[in-house]
Amino acid sequence: MTSTAVTHIASLVTNDPSLGNGTPLGLIRDAAVVIEGDRVVWTGESSKAPATDNVLDAAGRAVVPGFVDSHSHLVFAGDRTQEFDARMSGQPYRAGGIRTTVAATRAASDDVLSANVARYLAEALRQGTTTFETKSGYGLTVEDEARALRIAARHTDEVTYLGAHIVSPDYADDPAAYVDLVTGPMLEACAPHARWIDVFCEEGAFDGDQARAILTAGRARGLHPRIHANQLTYGPGVQLAVELDAASADHCTHLTDADVDALAQGNTVATLLPGAEFSTRAAWPDARRLLDAGAVVALSTDCNPGSSFTSSMPFCVALAVRDMGMSPDEALWSATAGGAAALRRTDVGRIAPGARADLVLLDAPSHVHLAYRPGVPLVSAVWRSGERVV
Ligand code: NIG
Ligand code: FE
Repeated sequence: MTSTAVTHIASLVTNDPSLGNGTPLGLIRDAAVVIEGDRVVWTGESSKAPATDNVLDAAGRAVVPGFVDSHSHLVFAGDRTQEFDARMSGQPYRAGGIRTTVAATRAASDDVLSANVARYLAEALRQGTTTFETKSGYGLTVEDEARALRIAARHTDEVTYLGAHIVSPDYADDPAAYVDLVTGPMLEACAPHARWIDVFCEEGAFDGDQARAILTAGRARGLHPRIHANQLTYGPGVQLAVELDAASADHCTHLTDADVDALAQGNTVATLLPGAEFSTRAAWPDARRLLDAGAVVALSTDCNPGSSFTSSMPFCVALAVRDMGMSPDEALWSATAGGAAALRRTDVGRIAPGARADLVLLDAPSHVHLAYRPGVPLVSAVWRSGERVV
């Protein structure tokens, strides 16, 4: 098997607290990483690196783990430029805008949808994302939801069934019948193509009882729960997530003290999606409050054409540092190891022997520059599963 060493790394984020400086980032200065096949096999001081077949000299730049984007909605057609434009002139964000994308997505061919996913993934990869989750949710019929998941599964293993994004416009007069569809025939058609089940628990989407019924049905069919919770208003979603041992409660913008306590005590990661607050001009989620309470926090893009049309994890890191009370170290951890935790993965989100070799070489001396130099394309090389892809 070919081995490659990346040497003379000014600052290497391993996310292994037993390595380097002993912080959660496990930062090693003047470091090297050795990759063999698709795995990391060695990390340590550059001067002690073992001999390898190939050597790449990082020349004083930083290496961080590939970003883990644990929340996106990439199977869609069209965009919602006008809605964004109107919002920036004072209109509020409304979940009902999802219907516009549902119509465009239903009308699109498989090839168009798959090409869209590939395009946004290529964007994300150029910005250092090496693991990503994506969802259905813009089909809302049995056939269209199953189709979206089949297409998503061509591009990633982390596929989420979100038939419960909003009540389908076809069932506007009978939401209970739509919940029956989502938990019955639609679930049967979708479960073979997905790992996760999600529901948008929010005013204008699904209430707590409906969300519980949907996640419980999914779990009985072998899908693991995650949830869109407490985005636009306070609500039952976060506590339901913890009760059902959901891997992640996503958005967490409006939290009571009891919600924060539940996240701190439970096994559910709080996934914050600052692109959504940026793009809907909403108040920022309070990452500091969650971290101080002891909750595990992830950062993700929520990439979708309505509320957050960015595929950039570095952008989300910069927002989280500037506006959500996170330190650069915390934000980097949340965008890598935090995302891995939100997907219940231990093979990604860290650079340590045995981990998948997902590395990002930054054109900067440290990860702090991701927030310090916002909007600058600092990603200069990316390895995914040991292969150089950027
Ligand atoms: O996570 N909140 C629900 N779903 C998406 C928005 C979808 C849309 O507006 O098209 C979100 O923000
Ligand atoms: Fe979302």
